[in-house]
Amino acid sequence: MNPTTGTLENYWMPFTANRDFKADPRLFVQAEGMYYRNREGKKVLDGSSGLFCCAAGHGRPEIAEAVGKQLRQLDYCAPFQSAHPLGFELARRVAALTPGDLDYIFFGNSGSEAVDTAIKIALAYHRVRGEGQRMRFVSRERAYHGVNIGGTSLSGLVKNREAFGAGLTGVVHMRHTWLPENRFSKGQPDSGAELAEDLQRIVGLYGADTIAACFVEPIAGSTGILVPPKGYLERLREICNAHGILLVFDEVICGFGRTGKAFGAQSFGVTPDVITMAKALTNGAQPMAAVAVSKKIHDTIINAAPEHAIELFHGYTYSGHPAACAAGLATLDIYEKEKLFDRAAEMSPYFLESVFALSDLPAITDIRGYGMIAGFDVAPAGGPGVRGYEVQKRLFAAGLHIKMTGDSGIVAPPLVAEKSHIDEICGILRDVLKAYPAQATEIRKARSS
Ligand SMILES: Cc1ncc(COP(=O)(O)O)c(C=O)c1O
Repeated sequence: MNPTTGTLENYWMPFTANRDFKADPRLFVQAEGMYYRNREGKKVLDGSSGLFCCAAGHGRPEIAEAVGKQLRQLDYCAPFQSAHPLGFELARRVAALTPGDLDYIFFGNSGSEAVDTAIKIALAYHRVRGEGQRMRFVSRERAYHGVNIGGTSLSGLVKNREAFGAGLTGVVHMRHTWLPENRFSKGQPDSGAELAEDLQRIVGLYGADTIAACFVEPIAGSTGILVPPKGYLERLREICNAHGILLVFDEVICGFGRTGKAFGAQSFGVTPDVITMAKALTNGAQPMAAVAVSKKIHDTIINAAPEHAIELFHGYTYSGHPAACAAGLATLDIYEKEKLFDRAAEMSPYFLESVFALSDLPAITDIRGYGMIAGFDVAPAGGPGVRGYEVQKRLFAAGLHIKMTGDSGIVAPPLVAEKSHIDEICGILRDVLKAYPAQATEIRKARSS
């Protein structure tokens, strides 16, 4: 295929500047380990695990073989009122990783579906308890919870909301946790626990008994990595406990070792009532997501329905798809065999040290990070996101793929990365970013004072 002759026209690409991309396409055609290859055969280092999916590195034969074998044996079966063994096995394996008694696992196909599923489970839970008036949801500025209508309504990113109307009614946003005094904090920032009091104020304004759940990403990911201030998640937990509000951790990015433990919940020592997960569940090899809920939520909903009746009128044609379950099981085997969550914890200091060493570059106005994920901001120039987009293209040309959101870059290499890969990522970042002058001198001054 010659991608310059109009053959790219029909694919309306997601979250992409379609016209610009198609004028100068950046196509990957192969991947193995830490590297993609583009269509010219050039290696491109994967600095963002694809889109935070490929924790075990690319092209793992164990996963490909498990998926192929499953498709030959049982390609599909209806997930409503029938099932196949792997769904139960994967649910058991996921439940063994989740904190507390979040042992009941509902499968979907994407993080967005997991979020909307969690919204519906929260509503159903309160309803069967006789508190059906709890219909409000609390989210946060700068949150990303996927793109279905529930997740769009929870979103705290203006571009992801503004074209799509009012969304769900009754969603209220807390402030985000980025604070200027926390610039260049490695790990959890010292300031900002008091921002959790926003939830208490929302309770005061709307009444606790109207609020179903509070959704947060333990580390706000897509917005550019906002690590929770010390004490912040703990305080949210206390307020939720005091008022019967469910606490939902959206761990679509944090889950499966990114923070150095299976889930951010364990790294930060706070157990929510619900966890949403996707991405690294199958190492990105099959679309799959899951929602883990506590025994109390599960039993309340299940026991409220008559015997022989469907308890939750929700599910997807591809919930627990056999090929996705096979990929999930093979992925969890790799994580266990290679102790990748421990490896992430061990590699984290080197990774964070290396990324934070970029703080001398004049265009970088902030760096944040925890575990094996870090975000940096470049001083905007020419309008929000213009420079960030250009940086992404230049990085690709220099042989590095990372996710950019606006003027923030996100570095999250596969957890199999060696120190040499981290050096290579940071070397390319330095080479590309050093070309940019600072635009926000006051920020630099504030930093050095
Ligand atoms: C925290 C969070 N929730 C939900 C999603 C949506 O996942 P998906 O793109 O698989 O629908 C994402 C995607 O990045 C995410 O980071």
